[in-house]
Amino acid sequence: MQGREQFATRFGFIFAAVGSAVGLGNIWRFPYMLGENGGFAFLIAYFICIALIGLPVLLAEFTVGRRGQSDAIHSFENIKSKSFGKIGGFLGVLSGTLILSFYGVIAGWVFYYLFSYITGAAGNVESGGFEGFFGEFIASPVGPVVWHFLFMAVVIGVVFFGIKKGIEIANRTFMPMLAVLIIVLAVFGLTMDGAGEALSFMFTPDFNALGDINVWGAAVGQAFFTLSLGMGAMITYASYLPKESRLPSAAGTVVVFDTFFAVFAGLMIFPIVFTFGMEPGAGPGLLFMTLPEAFSQWGLGGTIFGIFFFLFVGIAALSSAISLLEVGVSWAMRRFNVGRKPTTLVAGSIITLFGVLSAISQGAVPALTQMKLFAFLDPSSDTITFLDILDKFTAQYTLALGGLVTALFVGWGWNRIEALRETGLQDTAIGAVWIWFLRIVAPAGILYIVITNFINMIGQ
Ligand code: PFF
Repeated sequence: MQGREQFATRFGFIFAAVGSAVGLGNIWRFPYMLGENGGFAFLIAYFICIALIGLPVLLAEFTVGRRGQSDAIHSFENIKSKSFGKIGGFLGVLSGTLILSFYGVIAGWVFYYLFSYITGAAGNVESGGFEGFFGEFIASPVGPVVWHFLFMAVVIGVVFFGIKKGIEIANRTFMPMLAVLIIVLAVFGLTMDGAGEALSFMFTPDFNALGDINVWGAAVGQAFFTLSLGMGAMITYASYLPKESRLPSAAGTVVVFDTFFAVFAGLMIFPIVFTFGMEPGAGPGLLFMTLPEAFSQWGLGGTIFGIFFFLFVGIAALSSAISLLEVGVSWAMRRFNVGRKPTTLVAGSIITLFGVLSAISQGAVPALTQMKLFAFLDPSSDTITFLDILDKFTAQYTLALGGLVTALFVGWGWNRIEALRETGLQDTAIGAVWIWFLRIVAPAGILYIVITNFINMIGQ
């Protein structure tokens, strides 16, 4: 048998893992979740979920992947045959497919904006006009589908060429540039009139709001989504890792970078929201309606900013989408015993076609735009779009349950000493704490949130 592909360097892995984590989840999803869930309360709930659930589960996924040396399902079996962990792997492959199908659509919107800035179309939109510009685009039956196809073609191309040549190089080159751009935009945002209001929205303590279970459900879902957890992406990536690298510091690095990007995305977007008197709870369109308004105030400079901004967000989305596709491809290659190239083409095409349903669910096809049957997934409204169904269903249920299975597997199912040895944490206090987090704290937190959320939802 041919040896398993590997990352060329330790940093290659860290960049790829950070690249998977940092994406639309930070720059598009985090700010709109924060806006919809009251600012500060969500931020605190989110930090708590990241620290108590996200970080331990991330380390657990790294450990399973590196030890298992296989795809999201088979890694569990390699560690312990007949393991229940593979249920988590199945949930992962399912979530990965569903998430990538709509992720490609949102990324398509990003590339459409990039294109519009390059051609000057976005630069010509009058002040206050971006709600219309965006609304018209997403409601069209053609544009969003075409941009989704273009984006997915790039994703499929990178995965097609395999780990070293494709994924690693793409990540290493673009992540640092995105960080610089976000800092510049956040610093700029902080000089705007709405900065004070934005800061108080994000940072004024209001602990009462933490009693709202919807806030916790949204926060745990965001924590899983943003760290690429609960669907085997981090298991798959860690399986390409050489033995000697240190997992705990890699997990810490991913969490720090990911949180940095999210908080700075908030600092970049909310000053604009408040300066222009927009609605913080505007939902998934927030990024596409707020930032361009600010850019349009700066004339040609704004257009140039727009080009770089949407280019880098598109690249961040690309590195995450690559990891999403890699989960299914890695599994299917082993399961059906076919090579990387044909597997990538087939799996990528199926997911892309399924994504068309999300692409046309924003106004083009009313049956997909106003779905009443599943409206219970969104307590704030009595209809829901197909894209939102996939987003809410995966973030709040399948990812959380996939993470739960991994936590239970490493905490209870696997031999404790071996798990600790794989992370290099044997005989350390941190190791003991980690195991107990996986045994009790993370499962209890996930179950509490998922179950109350569910009861709440069906009670609507
Ligand atoms: N973490 C990515 C983001 O924040 O955009 C999204 C994602 C990638 C989720 C890969 C899940 C995953 F497996």
